[in-house]
Amino acid sequence: MEQYVIKGGNKLVGEVSIGGAKNAALGILAAAIMTDETVTIENLPNVRDTRVLLQAIEGIGAKVKYVYNNCVQINGGSISDMIVDYEYIRKIRASYYLLGALLGKYKTSKVALPGGCNIGSRPIDQHLKGFRALGAEVEIEHGMVSTKAESLKGAHIYFDVVTVGATINLMLASCLAEGDTILENAAKEPHIVDVANFLNAMGANIKGAGTDVIRIKGVSRLHGTTYSIIPDQIEAGTFMFAAAATRGDITVKDVIPKHLESLSAKLQEAGCEIVEGDDWVRVIGTDNLKSTNVKTLPYPGFPTDMQPQMAVVLALANGASMVTESIFENRFKYVGELNRMGCNIKVEGNTAYIEGVEKMTGAELDAPDLRAGAALVIAALAAEGFSCINDIEYIQRGYEDFEGKLTVLGAVIKRVDNEHDAQKFKLLVG
Ligand code: EPZ
Repeated sequence: MEQYVIKGGNKLVGEVSIGGAKNAALGILAAAIMTDETVTIENLPNVRDTRVLLQAIEGIGAKVKYVYNNCVQINGGSISDMIVDYEYIRKIRASYYLLGALLGKYKTSKVALPGGCNIGSRPIDQHLKGFRALGAEVEIEHGMVSTKAESLKGAHIYFDVVTVGATINLMLASCLAEGDTILENAAKEPHIVDVANFLNAMGANIKGAGTDVIRIKGVSRLHGTTYSIIPDQIEAGTFMFAAAATRGDITVKDVIPKHLESLSAKLQEAGCEIVEGDDWVRVIGTDNLKSTNVKTLPYPGFPTDMQPQMAVVLALANGASMVTESIFENRFKYVGELNRMGCNIKVEGNTAYIEGVEKMTGAELDAPDLRAGAALVIAALAAEGFSCINDIEYIQRGYEDFEGKLTVLGAVIKRVDNEHDAQKFKLLVG
């Protein structure tokens, strides 16, 4: 199994260009199959989740052309199969966007249910409630979700919880329905807006994305388009927090600073200096990080996908901090790994109580999920000595060339897949 070998202690300094948003891309790739014309998608992050979804899209008969590393062309006109049941598709949650896209376009879909994952049970009851409200029959059997409808009619849908996935899935399922659909208590993340903008570029009629009420007027068909995905708020945030943890100085480029406001605000509270430009944000770290408290919330609140990275920074701050996770029920699995590096963190319920420490020391670590894995990389970069991080395929789900970008910033990191290469690297960088 691949792992990262990291020698910590270097300040990360320099500039890094941020790629397209993974969580916008997954909704956009699903939406792309809702027209029989060709769609060109640019600034597509080349990460495992997007590669797996593209594989599934090809599997059901769509034509996919890889124009260059971050650009694909998709033509759904040749789709012949509405059943998505591939072993690999169960590994990514966003497979459920094909449920909404195929239902919306073909009035039927059948997709293997994604399991829960390491951050919580992650039910999809709100997705299914919405499909039924539009007039679809929905069944779950043998690990598959099946939907079918004579026709789809617009409906007034109120989400019991703010849910990114269901908001996107119901925009997909309703954009070709007869009549108007209203989504209440909708998620407002930047990637929701990006998926709505993409659908509108294909001829959909969606208003209000980015607010908690989204209005969709069904149209008869969608057409091809060319679209560039917004920058990834969480990739940018991960590098911003790496600057703080390593007392470095990093400028994240090709970003939308507005999307990073809650992150910049927390870093300023922790004592970092933030400088903002039109499409860049510079984070200047400090040797005296200050403790503070954070609670994860739906956008524009502090994003849950940055919660582990925040905990790493606060673990090195002076004093006591609290991190409260309000979105998922099991998103502190990384805390045990940090404590093995010398951190002092206690989890009670959905809150981590953090006593800052002078320093962390390197250790053998296991990445429990995507964002916690990225946070452990940040911790290893800030720690004294060597760390090895296992299960890095989680990290590759959402970060393109993570070790390459970190190396340019001064990190001593290498991806290896055997003990011999790990030892060789350690001797080399001693
Ligand atoms: C998306 O997951 C992201 N994944 C997650 O990012 C992100 O953490 C999450 O949104 C919150 O921002 C993708 O976009 C592929 P939700 P999603 O539906 O859509 C509950 C990453 O690291 N809920 O907004 O699955 C749910 O249990 C990943 O990139 C229901 O109860 O999240 C959770 O408590 C990790 N019923 C809350 O809502 C439902 O039908 C928010 O979930 C749906 C959700």
